[in-house]
Amino acid sequence: MTRSCVTALMLIGLMVGSWLSDAHAAVGREKLLTEPGVYGTFAVFALDEAWVKQDPAMRIVNLTSLKGVVEQHREHVAIDLYLLRGLSDHADLMFRIHAAELRETQEFLLDLKSSQFGKHLKRVGIMHGLTKQPNYVPEFPDQMKADLQAISEPGQNPYAIVIPIRKSAEWWGLDQEKRAAMMQEHTAATLPYLKTVKRKLYHSSGLDDLDFITYFETSKLEDFHSLVLSLEKVREFRYTRRFGHPTILGTMKSLDEVVELLAQ
Ligand code: HEM
Repeated sequence: MTRSCVTALMLIGLMVGSWLSDAHAAVGREKLLTEPGVYGTFAVFALDEAWVKQDPAMRIVNLTSLKGVVEQHREHVAIDLYLLRGLSDHADLMFRIHAAELRETQEFLLDLKSSQFGKHLKRVGIMHGLTKQPNYVPEFPDQMKADLQAISEPGQNPYAIVIPIRKSAEWWGLDQEKRAAMMQEHTAATLPYLKTVKRKLYHSSGLDDLDFITYFETSKLEDFHSLVLSLEKVREFRYTRRFGHPTILGTMKSLDEVVELLAQ
């Protein structure tokens, strides 16, 4: 048997193992992804130079350790993977981790770092936030509340975009009524894009050097571009002190897809 046949067989073995474990994975995942009071962490990594230089069979051994760590922690935390390589600066992979307790995320990241795969990871950045009940939507008109119920369909093979945001002290000093009126304008500008852009908001004040992490999924990047241009025109945008820096752009991938891509 040739060396490439052995490598292909190792890869297939890795996939079959994962299909079997997928069957019982993701305990509480739905809850972690939808409920308020959940911590969201975005951890961005680059692969070191030694990664591409290693023997293909060794690469698969290392990827097996990645799968092992993800599967070991999947009962406590919800883990999503994104390929950033080629689209974001100096970064190859992003993990989005949801957990009821931030220490569970820490345990996953520590195990990842000490795995054989983790030895090839260089940390590029990390951000933390918390999901919360909406602050302003309860004060919106009924029609707007109903419009916000529309289900977003990001389409097949969506891109993911992450934009950290910090607002000014002036914004936080305004009374709730004024902020709610401006957030209503924000929402009116975004509604035309609700169908194709799926969003999630994380509150970061005090947990990180930010106020919000905004996360989006869409297969229509042109819509996303127009959405941001519309938002830049509303009054609320004038209170933004940091928008992006970095803006993270990547493609959503399953664990198996990441393994297959990195095995090559
Ligand atoms: C489909 C597109 C979008 C919709 C429907 C939407 C809608 C909303 C709504 C309803 C809120 C208020 C949540 C609450 O009551 O607490 C909100 C908050 C927020 N949105 Fe958007 N949004 C969209 C896109 C964006 C984009 C593209 C950005 C910036 C990149 C953004 C940044 C924010 C931020 C930072 C907040 C929190 C503001 C604050 O609490 O001060 N949104 N959005």
